[in-house]
Amino acid sequence: MKVAVIGANGQLGQDVTSAFAAQGHEVAALNHSEMAVESSESVRAALDACRPELVINTAAFTNVDRCEDEAIQAFVINAAGARNVALAAQALGAKLIQISTDYVFDGEKGSAYVETDPPRPLSVYGNSKLAGEFCVRAAVPRHFVVRVSGIYGHHLCRGKGGPNFVDTMLARGRKGEEIRMVDDQIATPTPTAEIARQLVALSQTTEYGIYHATSEGCCSWYEFTLAIFELAGLKARVEPIKTGDSGRRAPRPKYGVLENAALKRISLNLFSHWRTGLENYLKDF
Ligand SMILES: NC(=O)c1ccc[n+]([C@@H]2O[C@H](COP(=O)([O-])OP(=O)(O)OC[C@H]3O[C@@H](n4cnc5c(N)ncnc54)[C@H](OP(=O)(O)O)[C@@H]3O)[C@@H](O)[C@H]2O)c1
Repeated sequence: MKVAVIGANGQLGQDVTSAFAAQGHEVAALNHSEMAVESSESVRAALDACRPELVINTAAFTNVDRCEDEAIQAFVINAAGARNVALAAQALGAKLIQISTDYVFDGEKGSAYVETDPPRPLSVYGNSKLAGEFCVRAAVPRHFVVRVSGIYGHHLCRGKGGPNFVDTMLARGRKGEEIRMVDDQIATPTPTAEIARQLVALSQTTEYGIYHATSEGCCSWYEFTLAIFELAGLKARVEPIKTGDSGRRAPRPKYGVLENAALKRISLNLFSHWRTGLENYLKDF
């Protein structure tokens, strides 16, 4: 297949590019310098040049706290940008994978969200990503909207301007810093390598629709931090705190756990438990 990856130098985009290339697909890796999703002309020109059969949009304004202050820009990139990509993909007859987020939910359900649960985002970021989902679903019948959560991989998260959560914790632990981490936000940290592998498998089906794609199980960010140090064999001081004391700008779901119900329905769920994913990630250092 000819595949175009948008946001190809991002944290997820780099692993997605490698995973499709490793399976023998012809991959056009499109970076921000080659295409700004908010410009329909630049999207059309870049996609027309490579004529993909599959487009994967990983690009987004991913800094959740900055989105609160730059709401228009968040919607321009995450919603209008997703629409531009969708319209261009549809014009070429390509199928589309749009990456979305657990932040489309408010976290009040108290148990894992399935794909049919009604979304209710709390933040500007979550609202803009949900708007992007709707744009994609309206424009491209052959779509996969894939919601991921708490992702970490070996490449930098460009939107956050630094290393991922795991590497940040390890660096702070090594410096002997005392770490304060929320124990009242439950999520499922998921390695980008596992998401990329899942996208390769899903893209080969015609089972279009919305998918949750996260590691199995769940934990608080405090528990995840303890697991990082335990598995890395490092001693560190980690203190549990409450969300209200974290000083973060954007509201986040308290229980943002996603169940991969749609993947399980088609017997295609490839994810391991979050702890196994973390172990594998740390082994790769
Ligand atoms: N990080 C998480 O924990 C998380 C959780 C749930 C969902 N997601 C979703 O997962 C996807 C990938 O996230 P990530 O962590 O890989 O983010 P990332 O490292 O910040 O990568 C985002 C990519 O998008 C590109 N980009 C930004 N604005 C663009 C624009 N206007 N036009 C074209 N490209 C643009 C960036 O390029 P430049 O840096 O060169 O601008 C970068 O390559 C996103 O859709 C995000 O919403 C992430």
